[in-house]
Amino acid sequence: MSYADTIARTAPLYDRVKAVVPPMEWPVFADDIDAILALKRRRNAVILGHNYMTPEIFHCVSDIVGDSLALAREAMKVDADVIVLAGVHFMAETAKLLNPAKTVLIPDLRAGCSLAESITAADVRLLRERYPGVPVVTYVNTSAAVKAESDICCTSGNARKVIESLGSDRVIMLPDEYLAQNIAAQTGVKIITWAGHCEVHERFTAAQIRELREENPGVVVLAHPECPPEVVAEADFTGSTADMSGYVGKQKPAKVVLITECSMADNVSVHHPDVEFVRPCNLCPHMKRITLSNIRTALEEMRHEVTIDPAVAVRARQAVERMLAVR
Ligand code: 13P
Ligand code: SF4
Repeated sequence: MSYADTIARTAPLYDRVKAVVPPMEWPVFADDIDAILALKRRRNAVILGHNYMTPEIFHCVSDIVGDSLALAREAMKVDADVIVLAGVHFMAETAKLLNPAKTVLIPDLRAGCSLAESITAADVRLLRERYPGVPVVTYVNTSAAVKAESDICCTSGNARKVIESLGSDRVIMLPDEYLAQNIAAQTGVKIITWAGHCEVHERFTAAQIRELREENPGVVVLAHPECPPEVVAEADFTGSTADMSGYVGKQKPAKVVLITECSMADNVSVHHPDVEFVRPCNLCPHMKRITLSNIRTALEEMRHEVTIDPAVAVRARQAVERMLAVR
């Protein structure tokens, strides 16, 4: 296969991302993309790509893209032998929980999450002892071991519905303190929180949003609910990564800012050339561990396979399935 053939074959893909990928970078990506597309056929594999993947991963090799909720839902329907999770480790674990018979690969084992790191299964057991009978809702951004200790999971896309589905006036919601506070403000349910934070979203401040508005009159501010409540209070809309993307598609604001991870604006802007994106953002170092090069290696060498202790998996799966049953 010549270099010219690779460039010719991948030209339609470059066309998709040309607004956000400079032409001089494309030759570096094209070879990996071409190889990944061939490997997917050979391995009967699909790639699930989170909204925070860089555009060449998100738009050029992913078969299914979305927020954590969409990836979990779609993971249940995958008709393939192998799932490569282009996202972070907890997402790969969720895909494995829902597909115990399939091979689930994560291209870099270091793709973690500050929220998942903030709490252990033992912490959840202690909380249950302290608050007997209070239902435990666990954010999907946790290990399978933590999910196994909880009654039901939630994502940022369905947290409110999940909390309301419990019909309880008191709920333990772990581990994202800000998400819990933001949901408590919407529902009126008394929420017992944990002091976990997303290292990307906790850095945004209300003063920063006010400054942005001053510098960009008329800008529409969309914030992720992992942001501190003072930031959410300054935003025009709060929602999961998929909700933010949906908002831009529906409302087509002239100028918008997405208070979240940097790749979001790149990925959404590809579909909305007429919308101006103001781009202050924070990078997630864990999401950025995933590259075309390590996706290629994952498929070549079938690594790194995600495994979950079956005794943990059976209980963690229940918590995820209960969440997916909430509509
Ligand atoms: P979403 O479920 O909104 O995609 O969020 C996942 C995440 O890790 C946000 O930081
Ligand atoms: Fe975790 Fe925050 Fe990165 Fe999402 S953006 S994976 S919550 S550290």
